[in-house]
Formats: sequence, C-alpha cells, structure tokens
Amino acid sequence: MTNTFAKTDHRGILQALDTYGYCVVRQVISPRLVQELKDEIDHFSDPDRTLPAPASKFNLTFAEDSRAIWQLFDDPDYLNLRHVLVGDHDVCLHRSASILRTPGDPVGGWHSDHCGQRQGPPRHFNDFLNRYSIPSGAWFYLNGSHPDRSGIAVIEKSHAPNWQAPAGFHLDPERRFIYRDDLGETDGAYNQLDIPGAVPVISEPGDLILFSALTYHVNMATHERRYSCGLALRPKSIKIDVPWDRSAQIAALKARLPERHHHLFEGYTSLDPDWKT
Ligand SMILES: [Fe+2]
Repeated sequence: MTNTFAKTDHRGILQALDTYGYCVVRQVISPRLVQELKDEIDHFSDPDRTLPAPASKFNLTFAEDSRAIWQLFDDPDYLNLRHVLVGDHDVCLHRSASILRTPGDPVGGWHSDHCGQRQGPPRHFNDFLNRYSIPSGAWFYLNGSHPDRSGIAVIEKSHAPNWQAPAGFHLDPERRFIYRDDLGETDGAYNQLDIPGAVPVISEPGDLILFSALTYHVNMATHERRYSCGLALRPKSIKIDVPWDRSAQIAALKARLPERHHHLFEGYTSLDPDWKT
C-alpha cells in the first residue's frame, strides 16, 4: 500500500498531507478498541437494529456519547500525532462524529468539507466549524476502506487552494461540490469514482485516515454494515464564537469524564445539529 505510514513517522505523514492531501496511518488503535467503537455506534445509532438498508445515520457529537473514544487521550502516540498535525500542544476538542451505513448506500457526491469560501452570513453549523486549516478528516474506518466493500475515496492533490476541477467538471462558487459540466447542478454533485485524480483509499480496521482541510472526497458504495468515527482537535489559540448554547451538554461531558481530560473542553463549542439561520 502506498501513502501509508507508521504512527510515529510524523515527517512522512506531514509530507504526504502536504503533497497529496491525504494519507493512511497504520494501526493507531487496537482490534479491541475497534470493536468497542463499533458496539457503541450500534448502541447510540441503531440500538434495535431497525435501520433500513440502504441508510446512513450520523451522530454529530459522538465524543459526547462515547466512552471508548476517550481512550485515545490516554495514548501518547495518538496525542503526539494529533499535536504534530495541528502544530500545537495546547489543543481542545473541535468536533467529532460517527457514521453508521447499511448495505446499498450509493457513492456520495464529490465535495470538500471546507466552508472557508462561504459567501454571505453563516447558514449552517459547518460554516462556523469547517473553516480552519486543520485536517478535515481524522477518521477511523472501522471496517477498513476498500472499493469492493466501501470506505472513502479522495482526489489526490485537490487540497491546493487554487485546485481546479478536471476538464469536463466544475466547482460551485463556494468550492464545496464538484459538478459535471454536461449535467445540471440540480442533479447533484458528481457521484462516480471515475473522475481524474480519484484514489480509492485502502486501509485496515484500526488505521487512521487523514485528509487535508480542502481535500475533495466521497464515500464509496456500501456493500456491508459499516462503521466510522472521527474527531478533530484544534489549537486553543483559534477561538470560535457560535450562536448556539450547548453549555449543559459540555457540563455533562465534564461530569462523566476524568479531570485530566477537562482541558480539552476549553474552547469546545459542541454543535447544535438543528441550528440554521
Ligand atoms: Fe465530507
């Protein structure tokens, strides 16, 4: 596998993110933690196993529910890597999420998570949170990632701020989505893997998939019950004013977690999934 690195190979990881806009870090979590996270995602997102197929279920504040994910913050290798990725030791939780997908979920539309090109006032919580040069993706694809089963594909080198869509495609003015020129934008973002530069990411359960703030990506077609989760950290020097109040949720989080983790909530905004202007 190319573009995969040991978790202590910080130089290789940073170089790959800088050059290609993505990479895979091998075996960051144990098989036991993989299973614990999958069990929790089932527990919080589909406790009765009634989610139809195909479907996707998102938990946009996963770290506020999960117990297992907090084991990461007692792992010095993981923390060292995350500090290197944002260039700072003094970090807070930025956001977290989990996704459960059932078989038959098709390829998604090519997009970037970054909202820094947003024109006009914020419309959505992502407009507040997804505008910084910190890796957008730091995800555990708990089934691994492979085009035969599903996972994530990225467009290599699409993380450059002046990246242009390949011939025959264009970006919307906010640079969030990729459209095919000969299809109307009402048909949605392009949702096939044959776009020039597309790379299906191949990883194993326990690997961490990283991609840069701007990198265009898509979920591949899902052929099995799939679990993923991730979290973003940001330097505390980046302060964010948000219009929602989640102080009760943050207080509850602090109440259930040991004091050694409380510094991670200095600056944590949480998010209100229902907030819109
Ligand atoms: Fe995304």
